[in-house]
Amino acid sequence: MMLLHRRLKGRVRTRARSIGSARRRSAAALVTVTACVATLASAPAGADGAGRPAYLDARAPVAQRVQDLLRRMTLKEKAGQMDQIAVARIQGDCEWSGGALNEACMKTVLDDYAAGSVLSGGGMGPQKNTPADWARMVNSVQKYAVEKSRLHIPVLYGVDAVHGHNNVLGATVFPHQIGLGATWDPGTVRDSGAATARAVAATGIDWNFSPVADLARDQRWGRYYETYGEDPLLAGTLAAAAVRGTENVRGAKKVAATVKHFAGYSEPSNGHDRVPADVSVRYLQDTLLAPYRSAVEAGARTVMVNSGAVNGVPATSSRYLLTKVLRDQWDFKGVAVTDWEDIRALQTKYKIAADYPEAIALAVNAGIDMAMEPYFAKDFTEGLMTAVRRGLVKEKRIDEAVGRILRLKLELGLFEDPYVDPGEADEAVLGADRELARKAATESQVLLRNEDGTLPVPASAKKIVVAGSYADDIDSQAGGWTIGWQRVPEGVELPGTTVLEGIRAAAPKGTDVVYAAAADEAAEQARTADLTVVVVGEKAAAEGEADSPRPELSAGQQALVKSLKASGKPVVVVVLAGRPLALGDAAGTEGLLMSWLPGTEGGHAVADVLFGAANPSGRLPVSWPKKTGNEPMYYQQLPGTNGGAESSYDAAYAFGAGLSYTSYAFDSLGLVRSSVRAGEPVQLKVTVSNTGRRDGDLVVPIHVSRPSSDVLAPAGKLVAFTKVRLEAGQSKTVALTVPARVLAVTPGDIDGAGAPRVEGGAYVFTAGGRKAELTVR
Ligand code: BGC
Ligand code: BGC
Repeated sequence: MMLLHRRLKGRVRTRARSIGSARRRSAAALVTVTACVATLASAPAGADGAGRPAYLDARAPVAQRVQDLLRRMTLKEKAGQMDQIAVARIQGDCEWSGGALNEACMKTVLDDYAAGSVLSGGGMGPQKNTPADWARMVNSVQKYAVEKSRLHIPVLYGVDAVHGHNNVLGATVFPHQIGLGATWDPGTVRDSGAATARAVAATGIDWNFSPVADLARDQRWGRYYETYGEDPLLAGTLAAAAVRGTENVRGAKKVAATVKHFAGYSEPSNGHDRVPADVSVRYLQDTLLAPYRSAVEAGARTVMVNSGAVNGVPATSSRYLLTKVLRDQWDFKGVAVTDWEDIRALQTKYKIAADYPEAIALAVNAGIDMAMEPYFAKDFTEGLMTAVRRGLVKEKRIDEAVGRILRLKLELGLFEDPYVDPGEADEAVLGADRELARKAATESQVLLRNEDGTLPVPASAKKIVVAGSYADDIDSQAGGWTIGWQRVPEGVELPGTTVLEGIRAAAPKGTDVVYAAAADEAAEQARTADLTVVVVGEKAAAEGEADSPRPELSAGQQALVKSLKASGKPVVVVVLAGRPLALGDAAGTEGLLMSWLPGTEGGHAVADVLFGAANPSGRLPVSWPKKTGNEPMYYQQLPGTNGGAESSYDAAYAFGAGLSYTSYAFDSLGLVRSSVRAGEPVQLKVTVSNTGRRDGDLVVPIHVSRPSSDVLAPAGKLVAFTKVRLEAGQSKTVALTVPARVLAVTPGDIDGAGAPRVEGGAYVFTAGGRKAELTVR
């Protein structure tokens, strides 16, 4: 069963009633989905070798092909190219039932209204959820577009593969972005992006709506876990790595990445999803925009726009964001797509347009190239034509947008190779890259407390009690956006390893693992255990449904941990959640391991850390509030005048925290030149050593602070980082560069809005207790 979006279901139903009879007639014609063999279809019907139009000539330059095609297109065909429709509109009853593709509705959407793109939003899959069935479904949509549309233009097919190819049953589910943020490892993020792209490509899909470059700053926000954390440099570096991984897969069909949700999506004023953000231009420029920019500069072919409003203007209608920043300042050449139904929202929610054509004009003139208008192809295609007739949109702007969309299709090779071989899909996807997912999940584990060397579990431990329902809950461990939109739907069994199963598999012979599901049984068993591992967490959800005005462990879970502590035996708390949760009575146990939403291999990852097969190297990419009510919390908080601890940055676990089973020393920090001109990069050298007895991976962060500045500066700001492999006893010197841009700030008074620049004066760099002072001239 397809997951429905409650908010929208009502609307679609109402609408369905008025067009019911036409729909009923068309619903009768269900397509038999036939397998398309790649070679059969490489030449679109009707085009033959000699008289082939230039746009079909694979050897012609892309720009020329785009121009040739544009010149042949009617306004209606161009408008349609700018429209993206949910696949649910061409399946089953074409109203949202799901099911087999319906040829009559494909005709309406892809032919009559010439939609240029189709998406599978969370949970919108084929009738049978296997990779081969996905490939057949996407092939069939593609075949319809290629063979039946007048100019044989293939569609762009998009999906939210935000942690592996997460909608496909049997695909390996990777950790959510927040966990990847905790790895501080661009290599792992790049590899995870590439693995996901290979799986996505194997099912025929061309476009992945990933990565998220928003910043996690408010623990209440439901999409906190979809980010790489709270720091602009960390998030930007990892988002750029994900883009490179996604877009540079060799040997497979190409997949476009998406930098989303541009920009300022993660600052909802009351902590709820899709609520307006009010941010100063200084904060926007110096903090929020940075990660999107890094990801765009890494070559992202598409950008998805924030659903929310920023400073009183919906991002979807912001010429400042979509043209001045994205195009003029950053030189972005790709496609800008809206988020879900957001052009219509300009009329219905924001009320800044009188009707749909006016809303379309606002968005398109601001710089939108494609509308995610999941529901009504007719409304968009005709709406844009109406806007042109009314003189609200110039055809030139449409040619620019459509030109970008066609270029993307050509660059992805869709005109030459629109299909994949469904016979290869299962093998390419099912259980693929499990080792990598396990590595990523292991690297994402953040050990926050380890009193008296409780961990790793000693080989002498005879009895380990595992408690808490989350210990055996693969669905929560995978999180939102898994098979379904909100979570794994009822009745679907997600293959994977739970924490309990991971512990059972990793426990040494002779160690008894006892799972006590009920709270009183757990407390009883704990008294005779060597160690209790209690797994707590949050139920999986997505978007607004994942908002949490009180981001804390539930009362029941706090009580459970409290009763286990009373056993007098060591207790290790493992947290499976997409954000830090105030621990309350669960604080102060011997061990605390943050495991995030580690995916289907997560159980092994947790166990490897608990038993010491892996030395934990994850570091918090966010700040962990002490108490509920301390949100939003992030370490780059600016100074204030209230001396109270809770008024300043006072985290339970600070940004960057994380323990290891070995010990490290920062031996020295030096500047290559201790004085630079404003605008020059800063080069640093750090020497670090592993002073313990186990090999490990050390995150080396460099922070900067200002003894005095013109514009307020946070007490510390991450300006460079790397992750270094250090064998026991080994020392290494690593070189790091801080680009001038990372130090730049927007000058001026409260209304400061000019270009960011690097202030002259003193800058103090720190790495693990070591300091180096720089003068900027
Ligand atoms: C989300 C996007 C997602 C899109 C398509 C929206 O609601 O905000 O992140 O890519 O739906 O599913
Ligand atoms: C959400 C999308 C999701 C879709 C699933 C929409 O309302 O915004 O992200 O993919 O519902 O039906």
